[in-house]
Amino acid sequence: MEKNKTIIGLCGSLRKGSYNQMLLKVAASLLPDDVDFEIAKYDDIPVYNEDHDLPAVTERPESVTRFRALLATADAFIIASPEYNYSIPGGLKNVIDWASRGKDSPLMHKPVAVIGATQGLWGTVRMQAAFLPVFTFLNMNPVLQPEVLVAQAQNKFDESGNLNDEMTMSLIKEKINKLVSTCKI
Ligand SMILES: Cc1cc2nc3c(=O)[nH]c(=O)nc-3n(C[C@H](O)[C@H](O)[C@H](O)COP(=O)(O)O)c2cc1C
Repeated sequence: MEKNKTIIGLCGSLRKGSYNQMLLKVAASLLPDDVDFEIAKYDDIPVYNEDHDLPAVTERPESVTRFRALLATADAFIIASPEYNYSIPGGLKNVIDWASRGKDSPLMHKPVAVIGATQGLWGTVRMQAAFLPVFTFLNMNPVLQPEVLVAQAQNKFDESGNLNDEMTMSLIKEKINKLVSTCKI
């Protein structure tokens, strides 16, 4: 099958057994066959420092250059993330900052869907709200509805990472379909 679109996934949790990694894989499994999907890894990316970014240096750190190049292949993004202290996890925000700089930012103007799972009761609503000003500054095109808020994730995924919650599955499907139809290609 020829791939017509590319969607890159970003996960706000790096831990083994992460519910958000599971959620991202569930979302990816619902993408149409002609969409290429890849999760962008970022555990080797340093903390943002403007002294190590263009134009202060001629080249960004190699891991950042690689990360930005992968993001540049994306027609759209899916972000699956927990909420840390009522907000975006620092590691994820850090790589968004690295990718946000320059006229060639690979994030700017692109569609994005945020989904999230938490073991708490509020299903990442505050993390998702914290992304709104980021998307505004980057002139991104967030698919806001439906909201996908997976609360008490420990009761909703089985050991193989399947999501046992029909309503959430149908909301993810709706959101993913909207994201794909928002892609320009
Ligand atoms: C640093 C830290 C901060 C957290 N803050 C919140 C929070 O603000 N709200 C919440 O519902 N859960 C919070 N949690 C709990 C996470 O929801 C829970 O650990 C979740 O499973 C993390 O996602 P993951 O399974 O994808 O790693 C926090 C966890 C950590 C490690």
